[in-house]
Amino acid sequence: STLRIGLIPADGIGREVIPAARRTLEALGSDLPKLEFRDLLAGFDLFTRTGTALPRETVEVLKEGCDAALFGAVSSPSRKVAGYSSPIVALRKELDLYANIRPVVSVASESEERPAVDLIVVRENTECLYVKQESLTQTASGKEARATRLITERTMAFELALARPRKQVTIIHKSNVLSVTDGLFRETVRAVPQLLEVAGRFDSVAIAEQIVDSAVYRLFREPEIYDVMVAPNLYGDILSDAAAALVGSLGLVPSVNAGDSFVMGEPVHGSAPDIEGQGIANPLAAIRSAALMLRHLKYQDAADRIDAAVNHVVREGQFLTPDLGGKSKTDDVVEAVLRRL
Ligand code: NAI
Ligand code: MG
Repeated sequence: STLRIGLIPADGIGREVIPAARRTLEALGSDLPKLEFRDLLAGFDLFTRTGTALPRETVEVLKEGCDAALFGAVSSPSRKVAGYSSPIVALRKELDLYANIRPVVSVASESEERPAVDLIVVRENTECLYVKQESLTQTASGKEARATRLITERTMAFELALARPRKQVTIIHKSNVLSVTDGLFRETVRAVPQLLEVAGRFDSVAIAEQIVDSAVYRLFREPEIYDVMVAPNLYGDILSDAAAALVGSLGLVPSVNAGDSFVMGEPVHGSAPDIEGQGIANPLAAIRSAALMLRHLKYQDAADRIDAAVNHVVREGQFLTPDLGGKSKTDDVVEAVLRRL
Protein backbone atom coordinates (compact mmCIF):
# COMPACT_ATOMS: atom_id res chain seq x y z
CA SER A 1 0.00 0.00 0.00
CA THR A 2 1.03 3.63 -0.34
CA LEU A 3 0.46 6.69 1.78
CA ARG A 4 -0.29 9.70 -0.43
CA ILE A 5 0.58 13.02 1.14
CA GLY A 6 -0.15 16.43 -0.37
CA LEU A 7 2.48 19.09 0.39
CA ILE A 8 1.38 22.73 0.34
CA PRO A 9 4.33 24.88 1.50
CA ALA A 10 2.56 28.09 0.33
CA ASP A 11 4.43 31.25 1.47
CA GLY A 12 7.44 32.47 3.47
CA ILE A 13 9.05 29.99 5.84
CA GLY A 14 6.38 27.47 4.85
CA ARG A 15 8.72 26.78 1.93
CA GLU A 16 11.59 26.14 4.34
CA VAL A 17 9.86 23.99 6.96
CA ILE A 18 7.65 21.74 4.79
CA PRO A 19 10.69 20.24 2.99
CA ALA A 20 12.11 19.55 6.48
CA ALA A 21 8.95 17.66 7.42
CA ARG A 22 9.12 15.71 4.17
CA ARG A 23 12.71 14.64 4.80
CA THR A 24 11.75 13.48 8.27
CA LEU A 25 8.87 11.37 6.93
CA GLU A 26 11.16 9.87 4.29
CA ALA A 27 13.63 8.85 6.97
CA LEU A 28 11.11 6.63 8.76
CA GLY A 29 11.61 3.80 6.30
CA SER A 30 9.76 0.58 7.04
CA ASP A 31 7.70 2.13 9.85
CA LEU A 32 5.47 3.53 7.12
CA PRO A 33 3.99 2.30 3.85
CA LYS A 34 5.58 3.56 0.65
CA LEU A 35 5.24 7.36 0.59
CA GLU A 36 3.97 9.30 -2.38
CA PHE A 37 4.19 13.10 -2.23
CA ARG A 38 2.21 15.57 -4.32
CA ASP A 39 3.51 19.15 -4.45
CA LEU A 40 0.56 21.53 -4.48
CA LEU A 41 0.20 25.26 -4.95
CA ALA A 42 -1.50 27.89 -2.79
CA GLY A 43 -0.65 31.20 -1.16
CA PHE A 44 -0.47 34.95 -1.45
CA ASP A 45 2.61 34.86 -3.71
CA LEU A 46 0.69 32.61 -6.06
CA PHE A 47 -2.21 35.06 -5.94
CA THR A 48 -0.02 38.01 -6.90
CA ARG A 49 1.40 36.02 -9.82
CA THR A 50 -1.73 34.28 -11.10
CA GLY A 51 -4.76 35.93 -9.49
CA THR A 52 -5.71 32.82 -7.55
CA ALA A 53 -4.67 31.90 -4.00
CA LEU A 54 -6.11 28.38 -4.00
CA PRO A 55 -6.22 26.68 -7.41
CA ARG A 56 -9.09 24.26 -8.00
CA GLU A 57 -6.49 21.61 -8.83
CA THR A 58 -4.99 21.78 -5.33
CA VAL A 59 -8.37 21.11 -3.75
CA GLU A 60 -9.18 18.33 -6.21
CA VAL A 61 -5.86 16.53 -5.79
CA LEU A 62 -6.27 16.70 -2.01
CA LYS A 63 -9.81 15.32 -2.20
CA GLU A 64 -9.26 12.66 -4.85
CA GLY A 65 -5.63 11.74 -4.67
CA CYS A 66 -4.32 12.20 -1.12
CA ASP A 67 -4.70 10.40 2.21
CA ALA A 68 -3.44 13.40 4.19
CA ALA A 69 -1.59 16.69 3.73
CA LEU A 70 0.90 19.10 5.24
CA PHE A 71 0.38 22.86 4.93
CA GLY A 72 3.14 25.43 5.55
CA ALA A 73 1.92 29.00 6.07
CA VAL A 74 0.36 31.79 4.10
CA SER A 75 1.33 35.47 4.01
CA SER A 76 -2.11 37.03 4.17
CA PRO A 77 -1.83 40.82 4.13
CA SER A 78 -3.51 42.84 6.89
CA ARG A 79 -5.03 45.24 4.38
CA LYS A 80 -7.93 44.27 2.17
CA VAL A 81 -6.79 43.04 -1.24
CA ALA A 82 -9.50 42.84 -3.88
CA GLY A 83 -10.14 39.26 -4.97
CA TYR A 84 -7.91 37.70 -2.31
CA SER A 85 -9.11 35.40 0.43
CA SER A 86 -6.93 33.25 2.72
CA PRO A 87 -6.37 29.81 1.17
CA ILE A 88 -5.92 28.07 4.55
CA VAL A 89 -9.27 29.32 5.81
CA ALA A 90 -10.80 28.15 2.51
CA LEU A 91 -9.07 24.74 2.64
CA ARG A 92 -10.34 24.04 6.15
CA LYS A 93 -13.86 24.65 4.85
CA GLU A 94 -13.45 22.80 1.56
CA LEU A 95 -12.17 19.67 3.31
CA ASP A 96 -14.51 20.09 6.30
CA LEU A 97 -11.62 20.04 8.75
CA TYR A 98 -13.73 21.22 11.65
CA ALA A 99 -11.26 20.71 14.47
CA ASN A 100 -7.82 22.20 14.88
CA ILE A 101 -5.88 20.20 17.43
CA ARG A 102 -2.86 21.93 18.95
CA PRO A 103 -0.82 20.13 21.59
CA VAL A 104 1.41 22.52 23.52
CA VAL A 105 3.93 20.52 25.50
CA SER A 106 7.16 21.63 27.11
CA VAL A 107 10.13 19.33 26.89
CA ALA A 108 10.86 18.00 30.37
CA SER A 109 14.45 18.28 31.54
CA GLU A 110 16.31 15.23 32.89
CA SER A 111 15.33 16.14 36.45
CA GLU A 112 11.62 16.64 35.77
CA GLU A 113 9.18 13.79 35.87
CA ARG A 114 6.52 15.43 33.71
CA PRO A 115 6.53 18.39 31.33
CA ALA A 116 5.50 21.61 33.09
CA VAL A 117 3.09 22.43 30.25
CA ASP A 118 1.12 19.57 28.73
CA LEU A 119 -2.12 20.74 27.21
CA ILE A 120 -4.08 20.56 23.99
CA VAL A 121 -5.95 23.49 22.52
CA VAL A 122 -8.87 22.18 20.47
CA ARG A 123 -9.95 25.04 18.27
CA GLU A 124 -13.16 24.99 16.29
CA ASN A 125 -11.85 25.45 12.78
CA THR A 126 -14.45 26.58 10.27
CA GLU A 127 -16.90 28.88 12.04
CA CYS A 128 -16.96 31.81 14.48
CA LEU A 129 -15.85 35.13 12.99
CA TYR A 130 -13.86 33.21 10.37
CA VAL A 131 -16.99 32.80 8.21
CA LYS A 132 -15.83 36.25 7.07
CA GLN A 133 -19.22 37.80 6.54
CA GLU A 134 -18.22 41.41 6.97
CA SER A 135 -19.85 44.55 5.76
CA LEU A 136 -19.08 48.23 5.73
CA THR A 137 -21.70 50.94 5.56
CA GLN A 138 -21.60 54.69 5.65
CA THR A 139 -23.73 56.24 8.39
CA ALA A 140 -24.38 59.85 9.33
CA SER A 141 -21.69 59.62 12.01
CA GLY A 142 -19.05 57.81 9.95
CA LYS A 143 -18.23 54.33 8.70
CA GLU A 144 -19.73 51.32 10.40
CA ALA A 145 -18.27 47.83 10.06
CA ARG A 146 -20.04 44.62 11.05
CA ALA A 147 -19.07 40.96 11.19
CA THR A 148 -21.25 37.91 11.58
CA ARG A 149 -20.22 35.20 14.01
CA LEU A 150 -21.47 31.67 13.42
CA ILE A 151 -21.58 28.98 16.08
CA THR A 152 -23.26 25.66 15.36
CA GLU A 153 -24.04 22.65 17.48
CA ARG A 154 -21.02 20.61 16.55
CA THR A 155 -18.16 19.94 18.87
CA MET A 156 -15.41 17.53 19.58
CA ALA A 157 -12.59 17.13 22.09
CA PHE A 158 -14.02 14.35 24.22
CA GLU A 159 -12.40 11.45 22.40
CA LEU A 160 -9.11 13.28 22.83
CA ALA A 161 -9.70 13.84 26.51
CA LEU A 162 -10.53 10.17 27.04
CA ALA A 163 -7.10 9.17 25.82
CA ARG A 164 -5.29 11.38 28.35
CA PRO A 165 -4.48 10.57 31.97
CA ARG A 166 -6.22 13.61 33.45
CA LYS A 167 -9.33 13.41 31.25
CA GLN A 168 -10.26 17.02 31.77
CA VAL A 169 -11.95 19.33 29.29
CA THR A 170 -12.05 23.08 29.92
CA ILE A 171 -14.57 25.01 27.82
CA ILE A 172 -13.25 28.44 26.88
CA HIS A 173 -15.96 31.01 26.24
CA LYS A 174 -17.28 34.48 26.88
CA SER A 175 -20.91 33.62 27.45
CA ASN A 176 -21.17 36.15 30.23
CA VAL A 177 -21.29 38.68 27.37
CA LEU A 178 -22.09 36.67 24.24
CA SER A 179 -24.75 34.52 25.83
CA VAL A 180 -26.30 33.37 22.54
CA THR A 181 -23.25 32.39 20.45
CA ASP A 182 -20.79 31.45 23.18
CA GLY A 183 -23.76 30.24 25.18
CA LEU A 184 -24.53 27.69 22.46
CA PHE A 185 -20.88 26.66 22.27
CA ARG A 186 -20.70 26.14 26.03
CA GLU A 187 -23.97 24.23 26.26
CA THR A 188 -23.11 22.06 23.29
CA VAL A 189 -19.79 20.97 24.77
CA ARG A 190 -21.47 20.36 28.13
CA ALA A 191 -24.08 18.19 26.43
CA VAL A 192 -21.66 16.07 24.39
CA PRO A 193 -22.11 12.87 26.43
CA GLN A 194 -25.92 12.98 26.12
CA LEU A 195 -25.75 14.28 22.57
CA LEU A 196 -23.82 11.24 21.47
CA GLU A 197 -26.00 8.95 23.58
CA VAL A 198 -22.93 7.34 24.99
CA ALA A 199 -23.03 8.92 28.40
CA GLY A 200 -21.33 5.92 29.98
CA ARG A 201 -18.20 6.31 27.88
CA PHE A 202 -17.61 9.90 28.84
CA ASP A 203 -18.47 9.69 32.52
CA SER A 204 -14.81 9.85 33.37
CA VAL A 205 -14.28 13.17 31.57
CA ALA A 206 -14.38 16.12 33.95
CA ILE A 207 -15.82 19.27 32.40
CA ALA A 208 -14.59 22.63 33.63
CA GLU A 209 -15.04 26.03 32.06
CA GLN A 210 -13.30 29.38 32.03
CA ILE A 211 -14.03 32.77 30.55
CA VAL A 212 -11.50 33.43 27.82
CA ASP A 213 -9.75 36.47 29.27
CA SER A 214 -9.17 34.91 32.67
CA ALA A 215 -8.19 31.68 30.91
CA VAL A 216 -5.25 33.55 29.34
CA TYR A 217 -4.32 34.93 32.77
CA ARG A 218 -4.42 31.52 34.40
CA LEU A 219 -2.63 29.95 31.46
CA PHE A 220 0.35 32.20 32.17
CA ARG A 221 0.26 31.74 35.94
CA GLU A 222 -0.53 28.05 36.27
CA PRO A 223 -0.43 26.30 32.88
CA GLU A 224 -0.33 22.93 34.62
CA ILE A 225 -4.03 23.14 35.48
CA TYR A 226 -5.06 22.73 31.84
CA ASP A 227 -5.48 19.45 30.00
CA VAL A 228 -7.78 19.82 26.97
CA MET A 229 -9.00 23.36 26.25
CA VAL A 230 -11.85 23.54 23.77
CA ALA A 231 -12.56 26.92 22.23
CA PRO A 232 -14.39 28.71 19.42
CA ASN A 233 -12.20 29.55 16.44
CA LEU A 234 -10.94 33.05 17.36
CA TYR A 235 -10.27 32.35 21.04
CA GLY A 236 -8.50 29.10 20.10
CA ASP A 237 -6.32 30.94 17.58
CA ILE A 238 -5.20 33.47 20.18
CA LEU A 239 -4.87 30.99 23.05
CA SER A 240 -2.63 28.65 21.09
CA ASP A 241 -0.15 31.42 20.17
CA ALA A 242 -0.16 32.49 23.83
CA ALA A 243 0.45 28.92 24.98
CA ALA A 244 3.31 28.65 22.47
CA ALA A 245 5.09 31.44 24.34
CA LEU A 246 5.09 29.25 27.45
CA VAL A 247 7.05 26.47 25.77
CA GLY A 248 9.72 28.68 24.25
CA SER A 249 8.70 29.37 20.66
CA LEU A 250 5.96 29.28 18.07
CA GLY A 251 8.54 27.34 16.08
CA LEU A 252 7.87 24.30 18.28
CA VAL A 253 4.10 24.04 18.24
CA PRO A 254 2.35 21.72 15.77
CA SER A 255 -1.26 21.25 14.81
CA VAL A 256 -3.54 19.16 12.70
CA ASN A 257 -6.69 20.27 10.96
CA ALA A 258 -8.94 17.27 11.36
CA GLY A 259 -12.30 16.18 9.96
CA ASP A 260 -14.10 12.86 9.68
CA SER A 261 -12.26 11.80 6.55
CA PHE A 262 -9.11 13.89 6.16
CA VAL A 263 -6.26 15.28 8.20
CA MET A 264 -3.87 18.12 7.38
CA GLY A 265 -0.82 18.88 9.52
CA GLU A 266 0.17 22.54 9.88
CA PRO A 267 2.59 24.36 12.17
CA VAL A 268 0.76 26.88 14.37
CA HIS A 269 3.06 29.70 13.26
CA GLY A 270 2.62 31.88 10.18
CA SER A 271 4.94 32.68 7.29
CA ALA A 272 7.35 34.73 9.46
CA PRO A 273 8.35 37.38 6.87
CA ASP A 274 10.89 38.80 9.35
CA ILE A 275 13.12 35.72 9.00
CA GLU A 276 12.04 34.37 5.61
CA GLY A 277 14.81 33.30 3.25
CA GLN A 278 17.55 33.33 5.89
CA GLY A 279 17.58 29.58 6.47
CA ILE A 280 17.00 30.00 10.20
CA ALA A 281 13.32 29.04 10.55
CA ASN A 282 12.73 26.47 13.24
CA PRO A 283 11.57 23.32 11.42
CA LEU A 284 10.43 21.48 14.56
CA ALA A 285 6.81 22.71 14.54
CA ALA A 286 6.41 21.42 10.98
CA ILE A 287 8.19 18.16 11.81
CA ARG A 288 5.98 17.67 14.85
CA SER A 289 2.95 18.45 12.66
CA ALA A 290 3.99 15.56 10.41
CA ALA A 291 4.14 13.33 13.50
CA LEU A 292 0.71 14.51 14.61
CA MET A 293 -0.65 13.80 11.13
CA LEU A 294 0.75 10.26 11.36
CA ARG A 295 -0.82 9.81 14.79
CA HIS A 296 -4.22 10.65 13.34
CA LEU A 297 -3.62 8.14 10.57
CA LYS A 298 -2.88 5.58 13.33
CA TYR A 299 0.84 5.25 12.67
CA GLN A 300 1.59 5.65 16.35
CA ASP A 301 5.06 4.08 16.32
CA ALA A 302 6.31 6.31 13.53
CA ALA A 303 4.84 9.36 15.28
CA ASP A 304 6.47 8.35 18.58
CA ARG A 305 9.84 8.02 16.87
CA ILE A 306 9.63 11.54 15.43
CA ASP A 307 8.52 13.07 18.72
CA ALA A 308 11.29 11.31 20.63
CA ALA A 309 13.91 12.53 18.15
CA VAL A 310 12.59 16.12 18.34
CA ASN A 311 12.49 16.06 22.15
CA HIS A 312 16.04 14.76 22.23
CA VAL A 313 17.29 17.55 19.98
CA VAL A 314 15.52 20.21 22.08
CA ARG A 315 16.67 18.76 25.42
CA GLU A 316 20.25 18.34 24.24
CA GLY A 317 20.26 21.99 23.11
CA GLN A 318 23.20 21.68 20.75
CA PHE A 319 21.33 22.32 17.53
CA LEU A 320 18.74 25.03 18.04
CA THR A 321 17.59 27.85 15.78
CA PRO A 322 17.77 31.50 17.02
CA ASP A 323 14.12 31.56 18.20
CA LEU A 324 15.23 29.08 20.90
CA GLY A 325 18.43 30.96 21.66
CA GLY A 326 20.65 28.85 19.42
CA LYS A 327 22.83 29.62 16.42
CA SER A 328 21.92 26.72 14.15
CA LYS A 329 20.39 26.83 10.71
CA THR A 330 17.17 25.07 9.74
CA ASP A 331 19.18 22.36 7.98
CA ASP A 332 21.42 21.71 11.00
CA VAL A 333 18.35 21.07 13.12
CA VAL A 334 16.86 18.76 10.49
CA GLU A 335 20.13 16.82 10.28
CA ALA A 336 20.19 16.47 14.06
CA VAL A 337 16.64 15.07 14.02
CA LEU A 338 17.47 12.68 11.19
CA ARG A 339 20.60 11.42 13.00
CA ARG A 340 18.55 10.73 16.10
CA LEU A 341 15.89 8.92 14.04
P1 NAI B 1 4.18 34.47 12.55
O1 NAI B 1 3.68 33.29 13.27
O2 NAI B 1 4.53 34.29 11.12
O3 NAI B 1 5.47 35.05 13.30
C1 NAI B 1 5.44 35.55 14.63
C2 NAI B 1 6.87 35.61 15.19
O4 NAI B 1 7.32 34.28 15.46
C3 NAI B 1 7.87 36.21 14.21
O5 NAI B 1 8.81 36.94 14.93
C4 NAI B 1 8.52 34.99 13.57
O6 NAI B 1 9.83 35.21 13.14
C5 NAI B 1 8.48 33.99 14.71
N1 NAI B 1 8.36 32.62 14.19
C6 NAI B 1 7.22 32.04 13.74
N2 NAI B 1 7.49 30.80 13.31
C7 NAI B 1 8.80 30.60 13.50
C8 NAI B 1 9.67 29.50 13.23
N3 NAI B 1 9.25 28.34 12.68
N4 NAI B 1 10.99 29.63 13.52
C9 NAI B 1 11.44 30.76 14.07
N5 NAI B 1 10.67 31.83 14.35
C10 NAI B 1 9.36 31.74 14.07
O7 NAI B 1 3.08 35.62 12.72
P2 NAI B 1 3.02 37.07 12.02
O8 NAI B 1 4.39 37.61 11.84
O9 NAI B 1 2.06 37.83 12.81
O10 NAI B 1 2.35 36.79 10.62
C11 NAI B 1 3.11 36.71 9.42
C12 NAI B 1 2.20 36.27 8.28
O11 NAI B 1 1.76 34.94 8.54
C13 NAI B 1 0.94 37.11 8.13
O12 NAI B 1 0.77 37.38 6.77
C14 NAI B 1 -0.17 36.23 8.64
O13 NAI B 1 -1.37 36.43 7.95
C15 NAI B 1 0.37 34.86 8.34
N6 NAI B 1 -0.15 33.80 9.21
C16 NAI B 1 -0.49 32.64 8.59
C17 NAI B 1 -0.94 31.57 9.32
C18 NAI B 1 -1.26 30.33 8.58
O14 NAI B 1 -0.85 30.13 7.46
N7 NAI B 1 -2.02 29.43 9.15
C19 NAI B 1 -1.06 31.63 10.78
C20 NAI B 1 -0.61 32.87 11.33
C21 NAI B 1 -0.18 33.93 10.56
MG1 MG C 1 -2.84 31.78 14.50
